[in-house]
Amino acid sequence: MTASIIDGKAFAAALRERIATQVASFHEAAGRAPGLAVVLVGEDPASAVYVRSKHKATVAAGMGSFEHKLSADVSQDELLALIDTLNADDRIDGILVQLPLPDHIDERAVTTRIDPDKDVDGFHPVNAGRLATGLYGFVPCTPLGCLMLLKDQLGDLAGLDAVVIGRSNIVGKPMAALLTKESCTVTLAHSKTKDLSSVVRRADIVVAAVGRAEMIKGDWIKPGATVIDVGINREAAPVEGSNGRLVGDVDFAGAMQVAGAVTPVPGGVGPMTIAVLLRNTLVSAHRRAR
Ligand code: GUN
Repeated sequence: MTASIIDGKAFAAALRERIATQVASFHEAAGRAPGLAVVLVGEDPASAVYVRSKHKATVAAGMGSFEHKLSADVSQDELLALIDTLNADDRIDGILVQLPLPDHIDERAVTTRIDPDKDVDGFHPVNAGRLATGLYGFVPCTPLGCLMLLKDQLGDLAGLDAVVIGRSNIVGKPMAALLTKESCTVTLAHSKTKDLSSVVRRADIVVAAVGRAEMIKGDWIKPGATVIDVGINREAAPVEGSNGRLVGDVDFAGAMQVAGAVTPVPGGVGPMTIAVLLRNTLVSAHRRAR
């Protein structure tokens, strides 16, 4: 049996088109476009690429993009003061501070300074608490994108066995909360889990977010399961000066032999993150316009 490939790129493109239409309606009704502020501190090349993609996607959706690029040696107080300004700016519905931050800045102090009602990343503890207790807040973009792909693939998820591998605040924990809300039976596995292969073998849904290249093997997977691979790992370059292959946390070729459906890397979960960021910003604009 060969699994089907879940085309996250196409799903995200369709979602972005729908969002652009809704942004145009919002703009006409409210007399302003939804606005997203993105703050980048320092010169990390990967972060710079992400921020550029977010800017382009925001503009393409018809939203206002407010970019703030700060030098790597900016003080924490200066960054917090910028966040205060963005919190108070009525043109801005969403604020995102790109992570990771330089070592001298306390990430938690930054994420908790963002107004929870503009926290389109969903990283503020108030939004984590809202998600955990079933209140409306903002859900982190990557796990919400994974859930959209799963529901598109499987419809009703109630009663299914799900395993989430990785317990980060950004992906694993919110993913487990979302699947619990969908009435799945959820196991949140991590680096200390005993006999991970048996845990994975029970699951109808596997979400891999460990950050270790091809760690989840094809023969761990239950036949017909749906596999969502959040990992993006770059393998060592085959020759000096070239780029290594991008691979996920799942052994893709092995999973394709056994699973029902698998997300590829790249082109699976990755494109969903930005599409959901735009979605969260539009939702914020609607809530704030009430
Ligand atoms: N760094 C990598 N992914 C993300 C993300 O989704 N949000 C923010 N703020 N930083 C990131």
